[in-house]
Amino acid sequence: MVSYKELGLSNTREMFAKAFKGGYAIPAYNFNNMEQIQAIITACVETQSPVILQVSSGARKYANPTLLRWMGKGAVEMMKELAKAKNLKEIPIALHLDHGDTFELAKSCIESGFSSVMIDGSHHPYDKNVELTKQVVDFAHQHDVTVEGELGVLSGIEDDVVAAKSVYTSPDQVEDFVKKTGVDSLAISIGTSHGAYKFKPAQCTKDPKTGVLVPPPLRFDILEEIEKRIPGFPIVLHGASSVATEYVDMINKFGGKLEAAVGIPEEQLRKAAKSAVCKINIDSDGRLAMTALIRKTFAENPGEFDPRKYLGPARDALVKVYKAKNENVLGSAGRA
Ligand code: G3H
Ligand code: 13P
Ligand code: ZN
Repeated sequence: MVSYKELGLSNTREMFAKAFKGGYAIPAYNFNNMEQIQAIITACVETQSPVILQVSSGARKYANPTLLRWMGKGAVEMMKELAKAKNLKEIPIALHLDHGDTFELAKSCIESGFSSVMIDGSHHPYDKNVELTKQVVDFAHQHDVTVEGELGVLSGIEDDVVAAKSVYTSPDQVEDFVKKTGVDSLAISIGTSHGAYKFKPAQCTKDPKTGVLVPPPLRFDILEEIEKRIPGFPIVLHGASSVATEYVDMINKFGGKLEAAVGIPEEQLRKAAKSAVCKINIDSDGRLAMTALIRKTFAENPGEFDPRKYLGPARDALVKVYKAKNENVLGSAGRA
């Protein structure tokens, strides 16, 4: 057993308490490889933002669980060095399991140094979700690891779980769920979804000036009702990428084919970050930026075969994306 405390990581308890009070959200960025983790740490140190490094079970399989765990430790060491070199404060970093689906997976992450885990029982019937979540909470809390549960179903792809249709979180269930399970935060479904195709064009209106598809607003009425039932409790938004036209257009310009990709408008997320939403999950926006810059580099330099020459520009774009999120969307910049 390696405790996250030995690795210099933090759980999310204090991060969320401060975010709740301060009216901002902690960024939760997914990573699978070295360039992503370098970009996240650089952006968050330079904007002085706390951060949650998220690892899905797919990321664990892709990168190797042991290597990934030590990348968490490496991230802490890199953060310390960077902060010192730039005369900045050190930032709190959590290493979090994203969409854990079994007790065994959550336990394995906790034992290998994760400071926070999500147990996503949202696709199970309610009672089974409660039972599974409580089992993980009971184990995690013995090690001072924080736990995120989920109620309601997001459409899109969550690892191996594919939900075709979203089911909004029922405010009537949240109080009972939080009480019975003992979770530290709750992911809810109010209209966000995973991936780059969050809405069908038919659900959107077209901005007459820009031609950009504008999706229906998030269900802030449901969020407000949830806040009334569990006052002061940290809420999590998954599927919160904005799918910037800048990168979708760049991908399409340089040989890609992304049609009618639509994300969550930034002003909706800004509004959510000021409420009880304390954690906002972003993966697709990083994927799009990386892909765009890699495509551009190859299109402009077809003879290039040094990975540093195409992953480097991709990493620079990621830093830009994450800094802008912290500063302009989540409001986490300057909160370290
Ligand atoms: O919620 C899903 C995250 O974007 C992780 O995606 O399961 O493909 O690693 P992944
Ligand atoms: P996006 O696909 O919108 O980036 O959502 C990521 C996410 O929710 C990870 O858990
Ligand atoms: Zn998610």
